[in-house]
Amino acid sequence: MDRRRFLKGSLATAAATTLLPLATQSTRADPGDRPSLPLPNLIDVKKSGRLDLVAQHGNHSFASGNPSATLGYNQDYLGPVVRARRGQDVAVRLLNDLQEPMATHWHGLLVPGEADGGPHQAIRPGGVWEPVLSIDQPPSTAWFHAHTHPHTARQVYAGLAGVFQIDDGRDDERGLPHQHGVDDFTLIIQDRRFDQLGRLEYRLGMFDRMHGFQGDHILVNGAHYPRARMPRSVVRLRLLNGSNARIYHLRFDDGRPMHVIASDSGYWPQPVAADELRLAPGERIEVLVDFRDGHDARLVTGPDQNQGGPGMMGMMSGLRSFTSSVLEGDTPVLTFHPGSKKAAIDQLPETIDDELPAPPTAFARRRHLTLDMMLGGMPMMGGMMGGSGGPTMGINGQPFDMQRINAEVGLGATEHWTIESNMLMHPFHIHGVRFRVLADELGRTPRLENRGYKDTVLVDGRAEIAVEFTQPASRETPFMYHCHILEHEDAGMMGHFSVS
Ligand code: C2O
Ligand code: CU
Ligand code: CU
Repeated sequence: MDRRRFLKGSLATAAATTLLPLATQSTRADPGDRPSLPLPNLIDVKKSGRLDLVAQHGNHSFASGNPSATLGYNQDYLGPVVRARRGQDVAVRLLNDLQEPMATHWHGLLVPGEADGGPHQAIRPGGVWEPVLSIDQPPSTAWFHAHTHPHTARQVYAGLAGVFQIDDGRDDERGLPHQHGVDDFTLIIQDRRFDQLGRLEYRLGMFDRMHGFQGDHILVNGAHYPRARMPRSVVRLRLLNGSNARIYHLRFDDGRPMHVIASDSGYWPQPVAADELRLAPGERIEVLVDFRDGHDARLVTGPDQNQGGPGMMGMMSGLRSFTSSVLEGDTPVLTFHPGSKKAAIDQLPETIDDELPAPPTAFARRRHLTLDMMLGGMPMMGGMMGGSGGPTMGINGQPFDMQRINAEVGLGATEHWTIESNMLMHPFHIHGVRFRVLADELGRTPRLENRGYKDTVLVDGRAEIAVEFTQPASRETPFMYHCHILEHEDAGMMGHFSVS
């Protein structure tokens, strides 16, 4: 081989290896080699009362891959962490700088329908939306994301998601860490697929349409298996599952406990230690983790278990082999490297907040919702073979219809909803409310993740919830309820209701 050819050959090899790192990065690599955890920009609106957001096109390189076409709020991919104070008004100015319509919803905020940002409030390209958010709810970690029917899945996947935190200024009294990026980490967990050049990939095969789209790389704040540096102290993690469909089973590989302090809609009375936490799309959970021993530790996830019952398995096993997104065993999510510094808050608090009231027992009305994949006979085959290019999803047998309101709820009412799922588990979310889980797959003593106030619950067969409707919503700007597997939502597993 002559020298030129040899050089050319080795260059090609070198190029191939630098272009492939996302696909080939060993998850067993020395954690010291990992990228550092990206810290989302903090926008504290407590003083200004103003929030300026621009939904924009981006060009983002994931690891050393080629740049990907992405979307973000005020940046290339994802958005900032917004911090607001309980009791304040936040005047939002959201510019849609995309070449397509886009709606942005505040997931977890208790605001009226006209400020909620559901699909009825899509902003045209170049348009501006200016809702005022009256923040009047307990401290919690909410988020915001695209909600453009039927393009939510693609837009969120491309990066349209950010975090919205509500603070009441009393975390010091509670003994809770709250310094963003120092001892309080906001972690947006998402799974993504990349092509041979390391570019973000979103192409839906039939398996993806049925199960929702899953990736084989787990990113935190946009980085694949990053490394966080923190003080040798008790640290707060605000975990958000911002994935389209993947359900995480999170734990530390050295067995250290996570002390849960909050679910979706606010604090728990005391920290509760857990070895493993299940986190479905749309859900948040906040934990304290004790790193006073100074040892490195890894947060890992077990495989997604949402593979369906025997019927689904049989039907889908053929399709499953077409996807590369199945992760077996434990997959690392994030590695923690405590430094030598300590933090101001260096112990686990005993109590955090007031005791939770007993769940309601008197209800204005009961409703039944069945989350349907239109399987079993014609509906599914029609959907799969029909012109829509995918299966039809629905609730109580009906796919989402923008023109037809599904329910009218009384303002101030507390209702009892029973939600049933078949074939797969579905994370069920309701806008503009918080609820208590009365029963889940474990029965009348709900699993740990379902304690406290929630706005999203993973329905594994059946869940019963007590929902408080405290915010008004007109028929023009109604609230949504839907499966938070975004491909299911886009395929019609969604409904909407007014509150008056
Ligand atoms: Cu997080 Cu209707 O969505
Ligand atoms: Cu929501
Ligand atoms: Cu679903």
